[in-house]
Amino acid sequence: MLNVSRENAILSIEICRPDKKNALVPQMYHDMALALESADSADIKAVLIKGSHGCFTAGNDIADFMSKNEDKDIKDTYRFMMSLVNCPVPVVAQVEGLAIGIGTTLLLHCDFVYCDENAKFAMPFINLGLVPEYASSYILPRISGNLKAAELLLLGETFDAEKAYECGIVSKVVSSEELPNLISQTLTKLVDKPKMALVQSKALLRNQKDDIEKHILLELEVFAKAMVSEPAKEAFSAFLEKRPVNKHLFK
Ligand code: COA
Repeated sequence: MLNVSRENAILSIEICRPDKKNALVPQMYHDMALALESADSADIKAVLIKGSHGCFTAGNDIADFMSKNEDKDIKDTYRFMMSLVNCPVPVVAQVEGLAIGIGTTLLLHCDFVYCDENAKFAMPFINLGLVPEYASSYILPRISGNLKAAELLLLGETFDAEKAYECGIVSKVVSSEELPNLISQTLTKLVDKPKMALVQSKALLRNQKDDIEKHILLELEVFAKAMVSEPAKEAFSAFLEKRPVNKHLFK
């Protein structure tokens, strides 16, 4: 479900669960966390996160959400996201196809986000009776402005690559043919930089980490309660049973 490799000072993480559109389950978060934690070593200068089979990720596995109760912690997801927030070297994301839910949220913590013209994004938490996660409600208003952030997070609709660029979620949109070249050129440039200056520059740029970590905990508290609410249970069941949501339960 996850392919991790280390080559030429680059740690690559490939998400690979094609039958479920690369939806993420706890074991995958756990393995991604372990991989990212290992980026804090002398021989790694950049990290690449990508999907596979033309898809980045459809987000958290909804069946897994359904099986959680409020007391059950989300330690693997939290550990993964914190290892991303704290990753000392630049993280490059290669986005093809769908980047849904945490698939979009995690991009807010990457340093270079390149996508192809067909990429589709969504933070559909509101439609699932959930709330924003992992500091998206902190970062998005700051990078996109309050109005665009409200549109993305309160309507929860799918948006295209152009909109993602406009909102500051992606660095550049290119054709799917150009994407691998752009990624490998950027990684090569990063690997050619002096390591200490690279790490120090990233730390200076990501200078709101304390506030971000505090906000993540605030969001998680609300998220945990929302996950076991009636609207969330109904939205998860509707998705798994491939039927429309009963909107009466959203009142
Ligand atoms: N969790 C669990 N399973 C998922 C999933 C998710 N997040 N996203 C896709 N899948 C599964 C589907 O259930 C389906 O499984 P099946 O073949 O056993 O029925 C398979 O992946 C293919 O998905 P499908 O819906 O048939 O593909 P599609 O191209 O028509 O639509 C999506 C793709 C991503 C738009 C759609 O699957 C979707 O809306 N997924 C939910 C995304 C979501 O809300 N994620 C955020 C959670 S916070």
